[in-house]
Amino acid sequence: MMSELFDIDDKIIVISGATGILGSAITAYLAAQGARVVAMGRNTAKVNALIEDIKGTRHKVFPLIADVTDEQDLVRAKLKLEHEFGKIDVLINLAGGNMPGAVITPEQTLLDARIDEINKVMELNYMGSFLPIKTFLPLFLTDLKGSIINISSMAAQRPITRVLGYGSAKAAIDNLTKWLAIEFCNKHSAELRVNAVAPGFFLTEQNRTLLTEADGQLTKRGNQIIANTPMGRFGNPDELFGVLHWLISDASKFVTGTIIPVDGGFNAYSGV
Ligand SMILES: NC(=O)c1ccc[n+]([C@@H]2O[C@H](COP(=O)([O-])OP(=O)(O)OC[C@H]3O[C@@H](n4cnc5c(N)ncnc54)[C@H](O)[C@@H]3O)[C@@H](O)[C@H]2O)c1
Repeated sequence: MMSELFDIDDKIIVISGATGILGSAITAYLAAQGARVVAMGRNTAKVNALIEDIKGTRHKVFPLIADVTDEQDLVRAKLKLEHEFGKIDVLINLAGGNMPGAVITPEQTLLDARIDEINKVMELNYMGSFLPIKTFLPLFLTDLKGSIINISSMAAQRPITRVLGYGSAKAAIDNLTKWLAIEFCNKHSAELRVNAVAPGFFLTEQNRTLLTEADGQLTKRGNQIIANTPMGRFGNPDELFGVLHWLISDASKFVTGTIIPVDGGFNAYSGV
């Protein structure tokens, strides 16, 4: 009973941002669980290197090259998926991230905000999930079921100083997640679910210099974050495996339109 409930064997799972810090760990985990994982990335060499690193799994990870903000790339990717598998079961939209130009530094004000940079971060984090969902939707309609998992951030629900564009883009992802959950139930199938995971702070290459000094000590900002995280530490990539596995499996089959924090309590904490 237990193993059937959480069974993800043979599921066809497409992951964007697969070669990133969180993406590579998640790709390896899901492949090790017997899923048929499609590693989507922009850089062929990086995708192949990731696949080379993942050995001994039942299904070899399948490479897919596409920029998530380029509709034509995604249409080509969809045709490849159609040809190889005929359908997909899961899409995890991991490609995304903050961008330095879309940040308001302590010395700046809103008057210094750069519209082109805000647009760029919106395009990657919002359109970079919206477009793959729209383009790959027909591949879910074959079976009239599936699980789409967006990756939000704590910056969406709890605005974080400096982080202007990225926080707005991830807040739009939260809204899109709920909107699509309803839309798909109404127009397609109640078994086509859409949820989001909102990670708290995970130490990665994107934020390492912001959170830690060269000697590994926390910066002032790193200390502020830890002080507001009841568990008192950053997350590790493997701490996302459980929630993703659950959202992919039938164990979550009555769950749609949710945004699930994985944040050591950051979202719950008022600071006092
Ligand atoms: N690390 C954290 O603490 C944290 C916290 C909350 C949310 N997140 C989110 O988790 C996701 C993964 O983050 P990460 O920490 O692994 O970052 P990362 O930078 O290591 O991974 C992001 C991946 O997306 C890819 N990418 C960027 N632009 C792309 C494009 N146009 N088309 C295709 N791929 C593109 C990058 O090449 C990279 O492989 C992101 O959406 C990020 O916003 C991370």
